[in-house]
Formats: sequence, C-alpha cells, structure tokens
Amino acid sequence: MYLGSVSFDALLDQAIRHGELSAAAIADLLHFRIFGNPQGFLLLPDQDIGDVPPTPADRTTLAKPDYRSELLLLQATALLGDPVGYPQESDGSLINNFFPQAARARQPSSDSFDTELELHTENAFHEVPPDFLALLCLRGAPQDDAVTYIASVDRMLQVIDADTTALLFEESFNFLSDYCVNEKNCRIDLGRYQPILYGQRSRPYLRFDPHFMLARSARMQRLIEEIKEITWSVAQPVRLAAGDLLIIDNRRAVHARSAFQAQFDGQDRWIQRTFAVCHQRQLIGETGEPSRIIGLRPPGP
Ligand SMILES: [Fe+2]
Repeated sequence: MYLGSVSFDALLDQAIRHGELSAAAIADLLHFRIFGNPQGFLLLPDQDIGDVPPTPADRTTLAKPDYRSELLLLQATALLGDPVGYPQESDGSLINNFFPQAARARQPSSDSFDTELELHTENAFHEVPPDFLALLCLRGAPQDDAVTYIASVDRMLQVIDADTTALLFEESFNFLSDYCVNEKNCRIDLGRYQPILYGQRSRPYLRFDPHFMLARSARMQRLIEEIKEITWSVAQPVRLAAGDLLIIDNRRAVHARSAFQAQFDGQDRWIQRTFAVCHQRQLIGETGEPSRIIGLRPPGP
C-alpha cells in the first residue's frame, strides 16, 4: 500500500475533517447524491490536488508524499456514501490509481492499455454495485486523447419507445462476472439474471454491460445490440484535465474510456478512483460483515 503506515480509516477521518473541497463543491456533491441530474455525472474542475510526483511506470514504484488529492477524493466519496472496494479491483484497494504501466503495454507508446471500450455499468454483475464512482485526475493525457464517455438513463429514455422501456423492466439477462484473480475480462456464469431497468418506473435505475450479458433468445440478444447503439447515440464525452473531479452515478449512467497514448516519461495520464455505496449499514445488517471490501455473494433463490 503506497500510503505506508497510514491506515485507511485514519486517512478517511482526516479527509472528513480537513479535506479542502469548497463549500460550493460540497453543496454540489450533496445535491447530486440526493437529486441527481439528467446527465448522470457531475464535473467539478480546478480542485487542489497538491504536489503530484511524476507518473510512475508501475505500481511497485508508486509513492506520493502529498496526500491532498487522496483527502479531497475521500472527502467527496464520504459525501456520496461509504467508500468501498472490491477484491477484483486493484486487490481491494479503496483508492485505485490508474496510469499506463509499461509492463502491461504490448508495445511502447501503444494505446492498448487502460481502456474500457464499451459503455457499461461498473460491476453490473455484482449484487452490490457501487452507487457512485469518483474519479480525480492528477494528470491529463499529454495528447488529450483519453476520453471518458457517459450515457445517462434519462438521455437514453428520450429515444427509447414506451413498449421497449416496459420490456427492459421485464426481460432478464444473464450478467456474467469478470471476477478473476489473474486475468482481466474473463466471463464467469453466476446465473444472475437481472433486467436492464429497475426501480422507479418514472426514474429508473440502469444496469448494462453488453460484453458481459447473455440474452435468453436471439431477439433479446438483438435488443442488447440496439440498446448498445442507443447508449452511444446519447453518450457525452469528457476529457479530464489535472484537478478535475468527476462523479458518475453508477445506477443512472453507463461509462466507457477510450484508448490513449503513453510515453512512460513521468507525464502520462494518472487518475485516482474510489467507489461509494449508499446502503452500507443495510449491508452490515444483512451480512454481519463490517468490511469495506465487498466480495461476491451467491445469487439469491
Ligand atoms: Fe468501468
């Protein structure tokens, strides 16, 4: 853990008491959590991220003496819910650091890493997906070629007819897990069948991850493709720059990230990410497990 001897709870405590979000940013975050917005994301630029060392080339050399960005990110996360991690995401780290890793790139300067090319819900297969993703940009892509795309369910429903909307509440799809220890993007059948839309009819939640979904019929498989096209037709691009804090409502929007170039010269893109859930006390009540790291639970009957 690059935070050395500092415990996560001590850092979280410090973030809550001494994080440097402005009063306006705090109001924006609380408003977004409670009321949401039609675009499904909130962008708060020009945050104080402190001194950012050169972008490391691999996780073993990750060191960051100035914790201002971590404090700011955790303060934002705590305003959205409870910070949580998942065993399959950066070994359960509660603050994930993303930067191009030389050892993982297939070729130097390739654009083959750190991509999420399909618009998707984070951990769509999981019984406890994050409610919010918080992304803090420590360093933008030098060529400004990294694009985050976000498509909200509100924007999608503007172009989906009423019959199809009703179908999306009714029809269940098998959401496959990519939960693997040593491999990214494996496909594990958990037998977890769930509809794409759920919750309030007038203001639905969305789960969608076309690469990890199986339909019960060819017709429904075609529906996945149709919805995929619709997500792209309404997706909004965001190019993150240093100091940008981006919050994505993971129940009300899907996201993707383009490929981008890396040079491994200390100036590559560097993003910190956290997850928040809004019902941790209920989870503890159900499971008796107070852990912030949420593992897989078998599907219910
Ligand atoms: Fe994602």
